[in-house]
Amino acid sequence: MRIFSIAKPYYRCGLQVEAQRDGMGDRAGADSTPPGWPGQLWLEGKTMVHLLDEQSRPTHMPRGPAKRTGPGFLNPAMAPARTRSVMLLNDALEHEWLTQADKSVRVLDALCSTGVRVRRWRNEIPSQYQERLRITANDLDKFALDWAQASHAAHPPKKEIHHLPEEDRYGNHASQNFDNGLNFRQLDARIAMIETGYQWIDVDPFGSPVQFLDSALQGLSRVGVLEITATDTAALTGSSSSSQARRYGAKGIVDVYAHDDAVRLLLATVATAAARLDKAITPLLALFDGHHVRISCLVKTSREQASNIGENIGWRIREDDVPYRFVQHPTPEQVKRGSGPLWIGPLWNKEIASRMTEEKAIQLCQPDSNEVDTFIAQGLTWDEHDVEYSTRELRRSVRYISQAADLMSREHLLLNLDSLPKWAGVGGAPKIEKLISSLCDSGYSAARIPDIEPLLATDAPFEIVLEQVREHASSPK
Ligand SMILES: C[S@@+](CC[C@H](N)C(=O)[O-])C[C@H]1O[C@@H](n2cnc3c(N)ncnc32)[C@H](O)[C@@H]1O
Repeated sequence: MRIFSIAKPYYRCGLQVEAQRDGMGDRAGADSTPPGWPGQLWLEGKTMVHLLDEQSRPTHMPRGPAKRTGPGFLNPAMAPARTRSVMLLNDALEHEWLTQADKSVRVLDALCSTGVRVRRWRNEIPSQYQERLRITANDLDKFALDWAQASHAAHPPKKEIHHLPEEDRYGNHASQNFDNGLNFRQLDARIAMIETGYQWIDVDPFGSPVQFLDSALQGLSRVGVLEITATDTAALTGSSSSSQARRYGAKGIVDVYAHDDAVRLLLATVATAAARLDKAITPLLALFDGHHVRISCLVKTSREQASNIGENIGWRIREDDVPYRFVQHPTPEQVKRGSGPLWIGPLWNKEIASRMTEEKAIQLCQPDSNEVDTFIAQGLTWDEHDVEYSTRELRRSVRYISQAADLMSREHLLLNLDSLPKWAGVGGAPKIEKLISSLCDSGYSAARIPDIEPLLATDAPFEIVLEQVREHASSPK
């Protein structure tokens, strides 16, 4: 096993330089300290993270876009998305919905930066699944990759992992050089993604993911999971209408449905690109999380299913009698009060999303007190407030998901609580919990949706919702 101490790092740069000179993108290791190493220590989930000294110590509940996004910068606001990624990959292994129990899963973080996500997969998914995970971590930026490799060496997974090479798409195993369970590559993501047939690809670029979509879909094996982050929310919501039209071929309306539209527009874009390649998508989880859209889809090669894509693509038309209706073929008049084309099918998978509970997040991703003590002994500054706040943040990562799993996986009406008093002709909205419990007591389903806005989904007719808003309305302030 390679020893990597924080104070006196040791890794082999020569190999890496040779490999890059050969144009292979290999990073077998390095033998110099990355500039700025070791920086300052932070804990995300159960995984020790080295942050650049110039990055200020994160708060536990950061929101919004990062102030700086240069090489090696870790955006702490993405921690909840990484937590859900650990949970989803674990769920695929635990519940065997991607491959059989004896089969390996080839996983690629195509734009891994300093490697926090890949290291979290390695550290936080239980050890009985680790041998099956073949994880490749790719980024074009040498500085970020140096930090990723140094962090992996300084804080190796509990169980040492040895993978034998497997044949890749080109009949050899030139693309694999596993170092204690992680295969580091320094390539353009579009090349890295098509080196072998991956069953799991994560695409987390700065801004729009559109330039990576085709290679990601082609890089997936016949059945695979594609997880995508998009931070170009101005384009996706339509607040920047020209970039929305150019990049996504869509038209938006910036109202209370802008976040849901953004999620559905990204899904429609992926589904359309997939259909061109005879592939069909099934959304597993799709969320608007503060400043970004994150979608996770199962992608299957199937001409028949890909041909049916039209069933799930349509427009959201704002109406006078209800907030909106989905329409597949809008008239020119409807287009004026519509946003689209969007994905109008289910947004989540019921079984998978219902297992995304706060308890599961804690079970998988929260370190116990012995682990925290070990991290502190390694130099982490962490007190009881950090323990409390990081627990809260883990819970927040999946808050409302399991309760909303059923509704988000079928037809539902999405409502913003703040818009309801106007529709109902009352002064103030009831508390969201009151409205939800009252709808459930009346025999309907209703649940809060994870969003910074007070959103709820229900299968109750809109008229019933309005009756209950009137019944429970609060007086205006
Ligand atoms: C938003 S960061 C990724 C963050 C990372 N997934 C995480 O969770 O910490 C985007 C990364 O994409 C890398 N990048 C940008 N263009 C790339 C390309 N064409 N191929 C590979 N990496 C690229 C950048 O170097 C940067 O590290």
